[in-house]
Amino acid sequence: MPTIPSSAPIAPGRRVRVFIFVFLIVAMSLRGARIAVAATAPHEMVVAESEPAARAGLEILRQGGNAIDAAVATSLALGVTNASSCGLGGGGFMLIYWAKTQKLYALDYREVAPAAARPDMYMRDGKPDEQLARTGALAVAVPGEPAGLDAALRRFGTMKFSQLAAPAIKLARAGFPLNPHMARELMLVAPIIGQDAGFHAIYFNPDGTPRHAGAILHNPNLAALIESLGDAPAERFYHGAIAAKIADFVKQRGGILTAEDLASYRPLWRDPIHLPYDGYDVYTMPPPSSAGVVLEILGMLSNSNLAGLGADSPAYLARLIEVMRQGFIDRAQYADPGFVKVPLATLLSPEHIAQARDRALHHAPAPPVAAAHDHGTSNFAVADRFGNVVEVTTTVNTIFGAKLMVESMGLVLNDEMDDFGVAPGVPNAFRLVGEENNEVAPGKRPLSSMSPLIALKDGRPALAAGGSGGPTIISGVAQVTIDSFAFHLEPETAVRLPRVHQQAQPDIVFVEQELPFHTRDELTAMGYHLKIVPELGAISAIRIRPGELRGAFDPLKGGGAVGD
Ligand code: GLY
Repeated sequence: MPTIPSSAPIAPGRRVRVFIFVFLIVAMSLRGARIAVAATAPHEMVVAESEPAARAGLEILRQGGNAIDAAVATSLALGVTNASSCGLGGGGFMLIYWAKTQKLYALDYREVAPAAARPDMYMRDGKPDEQLARTGALAVAVPGEPAGLDAALRRFGTMKFSQLAAPAIKLARAGFPLNPHMARELMLVAPIIGQDAGFHAIYFNPDGTPRHAGAILHNPNLAALIESLGDAPAERFYHGAIAAKIADFVKQRGGILTAEDLASYRPLWRDPIHLPYDGYDVYTMPPPSSAGVVLEILGMLSNSNLAGLGADSPAYLARLIEVMRQGFIDRAQYADPGFVKVPLATLLSPEHIAQARDRALHHAPAPPVAAAHDHGTSNFAVADRFGNVVEVTTTVNTIFGAKLMVESMGLVLNDEMDDFGVAPGVPNAFRLVGEENNEVAPGKRPLSSMSPLIALKDGRPALAAGGSGGPTIISGVAQVTIDSFAFHLEPETAVRLPRVHQQAQPDIVFVEQELPFHTRDELTAMGYHLKIVPELGAISAIRIRPGELRGAFDPLKGGGAVGD
């Protein structure tokens, strides 16, 4: 049982930053009531944050494609239907369980900083200007999505890219419904993107008001772009006319991304990271993801006999909050491993996890760490009839990325530069420990919270889970995994159970509004500062048993679970 945490006062210099962070957490949770939806299928399944995109993947599975083929089709379709969250102008992580080898593979197609990027590129008059990293041409990192899909397909796919692109092209040309989540996002960003001709043509009425949920949208230019990639998406996107157009567009708006940056982009195959948890082997994405924090959280709660406490009990939630705090303290050590030595072996060692658990149960004060502050993103999973499983999280970072669209290609450009610590050299509040590892450098990948997870039982996939929502991905994926394994909840219950989020700094526990009042009161009585929000990210999952796939998702992001 944890001791009651003290109420750490917020230093004056941190107040603005804490305010912005709270705004981001609230903004990304503007969704209303939450009801998880589930589906069961015997052989194959796709769960995505868009039903048309999930159906695109299923269409490919029905044509005989495998999970990787379906993942490419789903990614492309998601980039059409959920363009505010992901697309060809962004990047992502793909975790694959390949049945033939019974091994896991991790594909990193995260965006990278352009060659001209510098640690002080967002400093103006001696002060950091984070807006420059979030909106406009300087925010754009080199997209990784086309190269990532190409690499996955070349290694594990069975179908041609042009076949897999067909459903996305059809959606973009024939039309797709604007989902309620994106309609709400449009209201938020309308003042920034409403005047842009590209965005206006797709997402706004002639009178300039954002289109409403259910409106049928078309993006013929994006259809043409996807079609033009033929069967060589990496070659055609990163070289020649498309790359020149992107570079020219960014340059005209004062950005630094060049055609050479695009030509040099490479996705990377990495070794997944792993930790045993309550009889399961849990795998996830290595750095530059900070998904190791999910493993640390699970590790601290492993073999804790939580079932006796109850998945929504204050006693369990207090323990969870404390291990989250310890996990997020370590997040500062994660960064692009090509630039920073991430001490993964130490962070995931039984000794370190035991010490962190000990600190969690006695609530040692947190050292200063940077607040995680990214959000946006989209997640999906595919399980095929051959036993392969793919879990993908993909992003343009914040809503509609840099708020820039290359109109002639219907292409939204990411603002992934904002996932770096954007303020080096600034004392105290703006120069916190984590941001040193994650400062901007040419060719570097920004730290990510995206945490695609596949858990095995006796060597076979048992759960695929992932989510969107910046740092709440980490806490959400951990909670759904714990709810599934320690509390034996059905996926739809695990996905729906009200969640909490504590990331060390600020010292606030974010709590979903559906957490019962008496539970909130008990947590408050323990000394926690609660901030009630409608929702903390969106998590989806597929539970995998022989002959039974059960997928669950949060429908308010326009999701779908479909299978055969
Ligand atoms: N841009 C969100 C993330 O990578 O965590």
